[in-house]
Amino acid sequence: MAFLIQPRRAIRDAFPYQPGKSIASVQRELGLKTVIKLASNENPLGPAPRAMAAYRRAEKLNALYPEGASPELRAALARFHKVAPESVIVGNGSDEIIRLLCEAFLEVDDEVVVSQHGFIRFKQQSSMMGARVIEVPMTDWTHDLELMAKAASPRTKLVFVANPNNPTGTFNTQEELEGLLAAVPKTALVVLDEAYVQYAQAVPGYPRTVPGLVREHENLVVLRTFSKAYGLAGLRVGYGVGDPELVGWLDRIRMPFNVSLPAQLACVEALKDAAFVKRSVAVNDAQRAVVVRALGDMGFGVGESATNFVFAHGPMPGRELFKALLRQGVIVRPLDEYGLPAHVRISIGSPAQNKTLFAALKQVLAVPA
Ligand SMILES: Cc1ncc(COP(=O)(O)O)c(C=O)c1O
Repeated sequence: MAFLIQPRRAIRDAFPYQPGKSIASVQRELGLKTVIKLASNENPLGPAPRAMAAYRRAEKLNALYPEGASPELRAALARFHKVAPESVIVGNGSDEIIRLLCEAFLEVDDEVVVSQHGFIRFKQQSSMMGARVIEVPMTDWTHDLELMAKAASPRTKLVFVANPNNPTGTFNTQEELEGLLAAVPKTALVVLDEAYVQYAQAVPGYPRTVPGLVREHENLVVLRTFSKAYGLAGLRVGYGVGDPELVGWLDRIRMPFNVSLPAQLACVEALKDAAFVKRSVAVNDAQRAVVVRALGDMGFGVGESATNFVFAHGPMPGRELFKALLRQGVIVRPLDEYGLPAHVRISIGSPAQNKTLFAALKQVLAVPA
């Protein structure tokens, strides 16, 4: 019997997100024992140890519902960022905050400004609300914030900027960002997604946004995540820092228990684990240099990256390379959905994982050892 109930038009028209392939699915499908995943920009060092100790301690609390507004984590984040707890919203990954922003602010036909090869979730979540998404071309694989500001009109509700950007790995400077904030109408909310901030913050010119810029601009919200440098992607915790009124709206529409209690308590401890973040960044910096050199030697064009992944233009189309590497037990990310069929995104792994990647690439590209 046919299913006759139609979802909303915007849902029918929206294109679904294609997550990176999982290790388990590749093992199942290809009958491989050993598979490594360099496709979702996870931390090869694993989860922050202090966070995991708190997670285990929280085990016995799992029979109870968590406090919905994540009060302890919110307070810890407020102290960490020197803002009021009312300025912090905690979500089931920063993904949830992106979704809440779209649900809270977008009416059908409202405008949203994104960058051509910007993080795709912005476009997807906006279009699911029936918003009109304006895609602004990049300059040198970097968001052109001047052009994005020009594209913003009184009909614009949200301007999304991932800084650094996924998948291009590039970033915009403090000056560029301040230019955008000065130029967009105050009725447009600038959503600045800093998922990779810990990897980028030592790079000269990378902006300092929290608390300063957030205090100065009520139409700026900054998103962060525990999924990358803290190694907690599986826990699903991200957050936003912005105007208390904005936070109030998001708080009103989030699911009542959006973040589990073990996740909340683990992230309170993660914030104290500066040593782990430092080590994660140091390992990443060193290994990224190794990966960039090796890929360059194998004929890839590799962009500058301020993140834990590289954006590479391969000697074969991205999807073909992805499929060939899959057969070798290495998962990377093809970028067709970003309109980038010639590129791949490869997360920086541990030294051992990167060696496996290079060996697999040599097989696939038939490069002499
Ligand atoms: C730019 C950017 N924003 C947000 C996310 C989602 O992060 P989370 O795991 O916090 O939902 C990612 C994940 O890859 C990302 O690259």
